[in-house]
Amino acid sequence: MSLITPDPVIILDFGSQLTQNIARRVRELEIYSEVHPPFETADQIRSRNPLAIILSGGPSSVFDPEAPTVDPGIFYLGIPVLGICYGMQLMAHLLGGKVEPAEIREYGVTPFLAEKGTGAPWNALGEKSPVLMSHGDSILSLPSGFQKTGRTGTTPIAAMENRDRNLYGVQFHPEVTQTLQGIPFLKSFLTDIAGIRPNWTLSGYIDREIDHIQNTVGKEFLICALSGGIDSTVTALLCHKALGDRFQAFYVDNGLMRMGESEQIVRDLKELALPLKPVDAGKIFLDRLKGVKDPERKRKIIGKTFIDVFWSEAMTLPVRPRFLAQGTLYPDVIESISHKGPSSMIKSHHNVGGLPKKNPFQLVEPLRDLFKDEVRRMGLKLGLPDSFIHKQPFPGPGLAIRIIGSITPERLRVVRESDRIVRDVLSGNEISRSLWQYFAVLLPIQSVGVMGDQRTYENVIAIRAVSSQDGMTADVADLSHSLLAELSHRIIAEVRGVNRVVYDISPKPPSTIEWE
Ligand code: XMP
Repeated sequence: MSLITPDPVIILDFGSQLTQNIARRVRELEIYSEVHPPFETADQIRSRNPLAIILSGGPSSVFDPEAPTVDPGIFYLGIPVLGICYGMQLMAHLLGGKVEPAEIREYGVTPFLAEKGTGAPWNALGEKSPVLMSHGDSILSLPSGFQKTGRTGTTPIAAMENRDRNLYGVQFHPEVTQTLQGIPFLKSFLTDIAGIRPNWTLSGYIDREIDHIQNTVGKEFLICALSGGIDSTVTALLCHKALGDRFQAFYVDNGLMRMGESEQIVRDLKELALPLKPVDAGKIFLDRLKGVKDPERKRKIIGKTFIDVFWSEAMTLPVRPRFLAQGTLYPDVIESISHKGPSSMIKSHHNVGGLPKKNPFQLVEPLRDLFKDEVRRMGLKLGLPDSFIHKQPFPGPGLAIRIIGSITPERLRVVRESDRIVRDVLSGNEISRSLWQYFAVLLPIQSVGVMGDQRTYENVIAIRAVSSQDGMTADVADLSHSLLAELSHRIIAEVRGVNRVVYDISPKPPSTIEWE
């Protein structure tokens, strides 16, 4: 058990898109979970003191020469194991059962037909409960000592158990909402079979993490850069709680924020008594961005300038700081330990882009064990206002990547004023609840118009509004014609220098959410 976290349920990742879902579902049951690559030996896995092991699904077939596998010793540790989809097939394969390509690939929701007389965890599924199946291979015969516990219309062996050895397998995915009783099933496996008592609460984590920060930093000084986003803000709040006046946060205002945003961030955080030093660096950023049109160059310049400004501010403190806090999240940590093996672990999440090579700081990452939704809940517990927690994602390079072409104070004004109107109109409308982001983009063209009998030749604003779960894919928001008309009317009437508004109707993919 680490100082910060309880003994875990270990999820071995075979590359499924749903692995993080498993970890989150387990945590929602107030049981701590960790994702690990499957190539560790059984002894290494045992040394982590797992309370149970879950084998994830994955895109491979057990017959692929490159298929990820696991040390079969894990099945003899006496620790309860649940295999999901590929995880179940691998368990059957490694223990002497027979797996074959299925005659009919099964994808979709179908009733699970449990065998009669099976106890926990199967009875948590209920009768003919819908489950999500998604597999190409199937188990043809069970390993010895196992019995079949359920089937579907297409898959004769959809679930199995070896109760004496606490080994369980399901072909369906309990970690998705389409499997209606998936969470009760996981809960029954973890509590009834593995005997785990839920003890993972954020209050406990906050207390332990505060102790940990105090022990790590000792009598030294810790700093952090605050972007106004939820991750760096919660990091700062925790560090401040732990260290009091041996902590300082810096808010670098790059001059590329939305209207009133920097002021609001600083107000919100000062209200929480955070020792926050705002640094007005807009001029340096704009000077360095002068004439730059290429999106990648913009990003690089902004990243480097940010580090330069932060660095020189840190050096002005009366005490030389030795520690730097960062808002690394658990998904970043998982990504850095791919299931593909040690060779792909070169990328390290301890890498702040652009920090000087001789970085004299030791990193403190108090959110490294948490998912985003846990960070949001922690923010609420630490006193952040709801509006702060639920604000839209905003890219690090700010409005620089919403001004296509070169950035000037005048073009910043145009995009800022237009963006304020987009936010004003849409945030007051019911549809905004279902939207991931909505904003204005200034295009690098002028168009002809006519205003009050005068010919105009002015800017074009594009409105972007999308729905999305995670920003990886996105759909165009279905804004009504009257809303679009209101947006267009207000922007053209109120923003000097705009005579045309267009609506971006491109989903992601093939487009991206931002224009640059
Ligand atoms: P794209 O444009 O790639 O954006 O579809 C996906 C999500 O990421 C945000 N985004 C960024 N966030 N730094 C950030 O912190 C960036 O450079 C950046 N670029 C895009 C974007 O707003 C969307 O939510």
